[in-house]
Amino acid sequence: MKNVFPSQHPLVAAKLARLRDVNTEPKKFRELVRELAAMLAYEATLDIKVQPISVQTPLATTQGVTLVDKIGLIPILRAGLGMVEGVWELMPAAEVWHIGLYRDEKTLKPVSYYNRLPVAPTVTQCLILDPMLATGGSAVATVDILKDWGVRKIKFVGLIAAPEGITRLHEAHPDVPIHIAHIDDRLNEHGYILPGLGDAGDRMFGTG
Ligand code: PRP
Ligand code: URA
Repeated sequence: MKNVFPSQHPLVAAKLARLRDVNTEPKKFRELVRELAAMLAYEATLDIKVQPISVQTPLATTQGVTLVDKIGLIPILRAGLGMVEGVWELMPAAEVWHIGLYRDEKTLKPVSYYNRLPVAPTVTQCLILDPMLATGGSAVATVDILKDWGVRKIKFVGLIAAPEGITRLHEAHPDVPIHIAHIDDRLNEHGYILPGLGDAGDRMFGTG
């Protein structure tokens, strides 16, 4: 499918396998999420816009580049929080704007509980951070919020996606590239990704 980018990198695959493992405890889980987030953001920003600048080294003047876009990192609470630090290491000037959504257990629809975006957009490109793209409801709702805010350049950066979630996000927002570590098989009857990794928020925060 166009605009969907599962990582091909063996380091990502190896870390993902450890992340899925039921015996991986929360401390290691958080470490892996942080590392994977950085790797995926690195891949997702390959086409980021730059402009030339002049740089004075100790020996000579040379040409370098600086980033053009003002980047916003948009973690979807709770589990997206675990991805922020890793991505921030790569782009420390990025702003972080939190979006609070949880899935209603029965309907699986996203319920919004936190959004403090200012009236006018303060960034020109947003990276949505959420480890899990399941039904796609949370991701679609977040893109809706960001487009209403006025941002046009938006990417989704996640770890595991179900085909159902990819289709839903792609149909609602075909302009939003989807960068993930892996596309899994399907959703189960409770809306969990198979084989997946269980509940990302619970595993990260030790609340399961
Ligand atoms: C998880 C996950 C996504 C959402 C994905 O969050 O982090 O935000 O589910 O599901 P969807 O694609 O079907 O919308 P959850 O609602 O469990 O909240 P939590 O992170 O606070 O536990
Ligand atoms: N949210 C999760 O944390 N895991 C899933 O498998 C689906 C939604």
